[in-house]
Amino acid sequence: MQDLGEDPSKRTNDQMLDVGADVFPREVAELLPRGDLDALAISAETDKSSKRHDYMRLYEHLLTPYRDKSFSMLELGVGIPSRRAPSLRTWKSYFPNARIVGVDIRGISKTFEEDRIHIEIGNAARPRFLRRVFQKYQPSVILDDASHFWSHQIIGFQTLFPLLPPGGVYIVEDIHTSFLAKEEGSQYADHTESFWSYFNRLQMAMVCAQNHGPELTREENRLVSWIDAIFVTRKTVAVVKRRAPRRREWQASSSVET
Ligand SMILES: C[S@@+](CC[C@H](N)C(=O)[O-])C[C@H]1O[C@@H](n2cnc3c(N)ncnc32)[C@H](O)[C@@H]1O
Repeated sequence: MQDLGEDPSKRTNDQMLDVGADVFPREVAELLPRGDLDALAISAETDKSSKRHDYMRLYEHLLTPYRDKSFSMLELGVGIPSRRAPSLRTWKSYFPNARIVGVDIRGISKTFEEDRIHIEIGNAARPRFLRRVFQKYQPSVILDDASHFWSHQIIGFQTLFPLLPPGGVYIVEDIHTSFLAKEEGSQYADHTESFWSYFNRLQMAMVCAQNHGPELTREENRLVSWIDAIFVTRKTVAVVKRRAPRRREWQASSSVET
């Protein structure tokens, strides 16, 4: 293979074609470009931008249909006070007609409320609190960027994904915490099963259409029957909700004992 040096992004189109199957042509390589959302994230200094975690390219691809819609977006985790709610301000700029709701355990976060930004103070690990916030704002897009504890990520998904409307999107960020073990001193490993292990069981069940998949509880089977698609990239996962549960899977889940 031709030696193209260290930085693949500096390759010309001709060089890309030269290496054939090794890289994609430019049009395809930019299917997930750094777009408006990433630029807004950079200027608000949220770590979701391409300068750090690089989450926004995927999110813009997924959330473009919501861009001009009137809807609510809920983010668990407002961030350290000195940054002044950078991700909430990013969402507000990107979605001009949306109501943005932040949840944080720290009371000081309330000071970042402004037009179209609402803040609820509470513990995102408490299902009752989460359900109350959901009932109040009825969000269509939910993003969990709060504690990143395994149990909290699972509780958030189990509690809120069933409440989302069809076409709703549920995102869980910083899921690499699933790979940091308790023995290594990780505070995130607060549960017998990591978020990724839990979620990957659901993902496997979805991929095989709940046919010869892993053993799930009835609640987990029902969750899976509502999943339309899953988008995974480094350290984050986004789950899209179906218009209706997949009937055969839903019915089968009714006969499974938990
Ligand atoms: C990573 S920061 C959020 C960053 C912000 N979303 C951004 O992208 O700029 C995590 C936030 O979650 C909050 N948090 C931690 N544990 C929480 C819990 N159990 N319930 C609610 N918020 C929590 C912290 O106070 C902190 O503000």
